[in-house]
Amino acid sequence: MTGRTVSFPPGPVAATVSVPGDKSLSHRALILGAMAQGRSRAIGLGPGADVAATIGAVRALGVAVDAGWIDSPGVDGWWAPDRPIDCANSATTMRLLTGALAGCPFPTTLTGDASLVRRPMRRLVGPLGALGADVTVTEPGGTAPVTVHPVAGLHGGTVTLDLASAQLRSAVALAALRADGSTLITGPGGYRDHTERWLGSLGLGRFEGADGFRVVPGPVPSTEFRIPGDPSSAAFLWAAAAMRRGSTITTPGVSLNPGRIGFLQILEEFGAEIAAEVTGSVLDDPVGTVTVTGHGLFGVEVPAELAAATLDELILVGVLGSVAEGITTVRGAAELRTKETDRIAGTVDLIGSLGGAAEPTEDGFAVVGIGRLEPGTVPTNGDHRVAMAGAVAAVAVDGAVVIEDAEAAGVSWPGFYEVMEGLWS
Ligand code: S3P
Repeated sequence: MTGRTVSFPPGPVAATVSVPGDKSLSHRALILGAMAQGRSRAIGLGPGADVAATIGAVRALGVAVDAGWIDSPGVDGWWAPDRPIDCANSATTMRLLTGALAGCPFPTTLTGDASLVRRPMRRLVGPLGALGADVTVTEPGGTAPVTVHPVAGLHGGTVTLDLASAQLRSAVALAALRADGSTLITGPGGYRDHTERWLGSLGLGRFEGADGFRVVPGPVPSTEFRIPGDPSSAAFLWAAAAMRRGSTITTPGVSLNPGRIGFLQILEEFGAEIAAEVTGSVLDDPVGTVTVTGHGLFGVEVPAELAAATLDELILVGVLGSVAEGITTVRGAAELRTKETDRIAGTVDLIGSLGGAAEPTEDGFAVVGIGRLEPGTVPTNGDHRVAMAGAVAAVAVDGAVVIEDAEAAGVSWPGFYEVMEGLWS
């Protein structure tokens, strides 16, 4: 792992950037395409290592993936893998596949890199067990390796979750597709409901009540999935525009799923000008163009209700808070401690490494805005989003910032630093 020095010229930026394919939707297209019998297609898959981990995982189950074409015997014809499946750094791969594998007649073990084997997996056991699945995790931590054991069959029912986690919801929904009756999944809202929208559009379920989704089991049809741009990648560019007065950045064709756009609402509260226009949808999931224009920034209080819909962007909220006027607080975001790294600590350390003032709280952080940041070296512990947020922080620095383990950006966006540097050319 190596450091990378970033520094940006003075002045505003004006650019239109097509960001890479959405990571969450790429995983879902690959897994649903792998569950379907026959030939599916995923157009615009995300280029990062996490998506490559899902491609490798479904190949290990006997699915051919080539240039976005997915040829599968269908989930009932998946092969027993001859070794543990390596999900690398990707919890989405591990959690969603655990659900998809729950009804298979052979055991499968899923493992991952040093970060992934520290992340909480016990949360899968009860909800999948409620459908008759037999999933074991590694104790005492309740972590990976995770093993999905064969069972005689899955049954439908009601599963109530206590976390607003899209990965958990999706794992249960994918397992429920193979149950002998329908399953109602309920729990706190605000999560990205991509899986639910796509299943609904494919005739495999419907939203029910305020926070429920009923999965109607059946074979997944082979489908053409058009993957929109990733709003969690675009967010780095939006934040850069917000930090330079008079800048404008436009990102066409990004997912505007309601569970992904909390950050746009927060940017507006910071004082940025936001234009978001829905231009279409993919399998009932909205897609559109976002333009962010930078003005002065003022500290914000991010309430717990917005945490789930802003989860992957909260590091950026900290960075923006450190240059805004006043104090910024984030609450209800304890889940940040369970991400690729402890992102509450990561955000506070990032800001501190560049001369800013931030404090962790039990379920978030507080930042005092100081206008500008100073040159320094940003520790990232190999977390892609911390590394990229460090480069965005450099927009507020008159001088150079060194990003440790900078290549971690490749987990979601290889080529990110070049795009950032290109904004001023
Ligand atoms: C994801 C859901 C989120 C998010 C992650 C991707 C997904 O996690 O942080 O990067 O694709 O379902 P949660 O399951 O904690 O919501």
